[in-house]
This record gives sequence, structure tokens and C-alpha cells, in this order.
Amino acid sequence: MSLKDNIEELRKTAFAELSKIVSSADITTFRNRFFAKRGELALLTSQLPSLSDKEKREYGSLLSRLREELTSAFESRSEEITLEELNEKLAHEKLDITLPGRGNSIGAKNPFYIIRDEIADIFLKMGYEVKEGPEVESDLYNFERLNIPKDHPARDMQDSLYINENLLLRSQTSNIQARVMEEKAGKPFKIICPGKTYRRDDDDATHSHQFAQIEGLVVDKGINMAHLKATLEVFAKAMFGEKREVRFRPSFFPFTEPSVEVDVSCGNCGGKGCSMCKNGYIEILGAGMVHPNVLKINGYDPEVYSGFAFGIGIERVAMLRYGIDDIRRFYTNDVRFLEQFKKKVS
Ligand code: DAH
Repeated sequence: MSLKDNIEELRKTAFAELSKIVSSADITTFRNRFFAKRGELALLTSQLPSLSDKEKREYGSLLSRLREELTSAFESRSEEITLEELNEKLAHEKLDITLPGRGNSIGAKNPFYIIRDEIADIFLKMGYEVKEGPEVESDLYNFERLNIPKDHPARDMQDSLYINENLLLRSQTSNIQARVMEEKAGKPFKIICPGKTYRRDDDDATHSHQFAQIEGLVVDKGINMAHLKATLEVFAKAMFGEKREVRFRPSFFPFTEPSVEVDVSCGNCGGKGCSMCKNGYIEILGAGMVHPNVLKINGYDPEVYSGFAFGIGIERVAMLRYGIDDIRRFYTNDVRFLEQFKKKVS
């Protein structure tokens, strides 16, 4: 058989095969068989160099005509098949827009954070600045600069977790008081500081070795008890409702003088007294006028400046707001508990 016959033969086979192509898999097989580097077309082309010039010209042009015709027929057939396959796919993958959507399930904010942010918002609206302080704190800032020298009996109120003699996990966010006064260096300010605090406690429904507070501190000229009362009343009513009564009881804290504890009337009995509150009121925070010693120790002249401070237990407020019975629920991440605070998102 001459090369010419072979070319004719190839033309017949190739076009016969082309007419049989029905899928993209066939397209690949066909391309490999005829157009690949060692495919049938290349095989015949590789015989050209051994021929005479005349034959080279004749067969060369025959071969290139075959290649052109076959390529163009193959390409248009491939396009047809690709389109057919796409149409078929689209016909089967019809979107059923009557099916119910899947909705979005995003996690829930822990009620602790809901309340922390709500408390912060109330004070931000009153122009307070948010400050942060270290959780690993020195004895100096946690106690001494707050008018609690070493050996002061007030230290017994806060059983602390010490890292060494001078470093402890802060037992109160009040450490921020001394730090901010240092930073503000004699200038007036209004700050809150939300953050974690630690005490050596045996955990139970109302005690946790780790809990959180929001500290507040206002220092300026002419600050008096009326400012403290009005501010904390605004806070308590915004948090628990306008109808709740707010009560100030005398108390003791080493860094305030006078000191108060602030109670709200019980939401359960309306102030009459019930098993939840005992005497009609529930304590929500400690506060007071900044002790002159604290101002002095931290670089403010108590003859010129005065201030008030407060410390709010975040979990305590959240427990009262939501009727949560155990402080440990904030930390144990039981989804059945957390899901109750989930906002529906569709
Ligand atoms: N640091 C106090 C505590 O943990 C709470 C507190 C009371 C903070 C009175 C204050 C304050 O700033 O004025 O028991």
C-alpha cells in the first residue's frame, strides 16, 4: 500500500469514527487517536521525509488537507456535543424554587457578653471611655494604690490567687483606677473597665474562681454624691426597667469614703419580699466617693479633685436579668442553655 492509499484509508476511518462520536469521553479518545503527537496523522506525516521531493509535495499537501478538514469537522462536532451535554445537564438540574430555604444558623452570643455590652453601652452614652488593664497584676495596683496596704484587714475580703509575692491574678477591676489616674496625670476623666477577675473560691451556684466586673471611675472638680446617685440610678433603671426602685445602703470599701452598696427592688415580688430577695431588694453593685488617700496616692490633689467609683458584677447582673440560677452556666458552654439566647436570622 502506498502512502497515498494510507492517507485515503485514514480519511475514511477518521470520518467514520467522527460520525460515531456522541460524548465528551469520545471526543478525548478521538483527539488522542488522530491528533496526538504519536497519533495516526502524525504517523503518516513522519513518513514524508523518506520520500522524493515530488512525492513529498503531493502527499504533504494531501495530508495537510486531510488534517485541516478533519480538524474543522472534529471541532464543530465537539462544540455540538459540549452544547448538547450542557443542555442535558441544565434540563436535569432544574432549580426548584418552591423548596424551603436552608436559613442561616449563626452562633448565639453568650448572655454574659450580651449583658457586658449592654452595661458598657449605657455608660458610653453618658460619655464614658472604655479602658482595659492587665489580669496579671502587681500587688501595688491591685491593693496598695487603692488604700489597701499590706496587712490591712480589708485584704481578707478578697482571697486572691498569687503567682509570686508581688504578682497575682487581679481580684477586682479596681486595679484600673490607679492605672488610669497614673495615665491621665492629674486631668479629669470618666472611664469604665470591663474585665475578668479572679478569687480563690470554691465554685458553686453563686461563686466562681473566675468572674467579671465593670469598674467605673469619674474624677473631676466638684464631683459629689449626687452625681454618683444619679448615674447609678440611670444605670439600674436602664438595665432592669424604669419601675424598679433603687436603694443606697452604707457600706465599706477601703478605696471609697463614704461607701455604698446599691440594691434594686426585686422584680419577682415588686419589693414586698419573696424567696428570691428575702427583703424586697437585691444587691447589684458596690460604689462610693473616691477616698482622698486614693486620689493623693495616685497624683490628684483631694482639695481640688473629687470622684466617684463603682464596681458591677457582670454575671450577677446577667443572672438577675435572665433569671439564671447558676453562675457556672456562663462557662460550661451547654448549647441547650446558649441557644435560648439565639437571635433568629432567616
Ligand atoms: N472592687 C470591689 C469588689 O470587688 C467592688 C467595688 C466597690 C468597686 C466599690 C468600686 C467601688 O469601684 O467604689 O468587691
